[in-house]
Amino acid sequence: MDYAKYIKSVMDFPTTGINFRDITSLLEEGAVYRSAIDDLAAFAKSKHADVIVGPEARGFVIGGPLAYSLGLGFVPVRKPGKLPREVATVSYEKEYGIDTLCIHKDSIKPGQRVLVTDDLLATGGTIEATIQLVEQLGGVIAGVAFLIELTELNGSRLLKDYDVLSLIHY
Ligand code: PRP
Ligand code: ADE
Repeated sequence: MDYAKYIKSVMDFPTTGINFRDITSLLEEGAVYRSAIDDLAAFAKSKHADVIVGPEARGFVIGGPLAYSLGLGFVPVRKPGKLPREVATVSYEKEYGIDTLCIHKDSIKPGQRVLVTDDLLATGGTIEATIQLVEQLGGVIAGVAFLIELTELNGSRLLKDYDVLSLIHY
């Protein structure tokens, strides 16, 4: 399916110079949303994933239905102060300053095959931090899946060691 035609591009959002790729217009189309999840699920299945991990917030909109469709668990990666039990944390550099992501320490069993997913790959900082959290807990990255990859930002250079699927490339 030509998923790109369901993405709306918004210039200068949230700041000047950013061409924001808005997935909400795709999510509004039930059959298109389902088809995208089905395609990502086929990839996850081919990689023998045991569990799905995704970062807040848009990673939940992809990872939740993906886990449901495969009958797998979903593990959320969240900003500090959101997860109630003991967490592992990773700090990473964003365009401006440092950000931190957390995962429940007991959410991944050593050796489990983890499919990491998010709506969009830009610089790769978010997904790299998510992968580091999974690996800290002993998880094995089975694959990495996105709706959208912004190729010019070259986030995929951080994912050379992994099998990656992106449904849309800009
Ligand atoms: C967006 C997007 C990815 C990340 C990609 O999330 O959903 O998670 O940016 O950028 P990167 O590859 O440069 O890390 P955002 O931080 O805007 O948060 P949100 O999902 O809560 O909107
Ligand atoms: N997250 C980081 N860069 C983005 C972009 N250009 N569009 C939508 N989400 C993003």
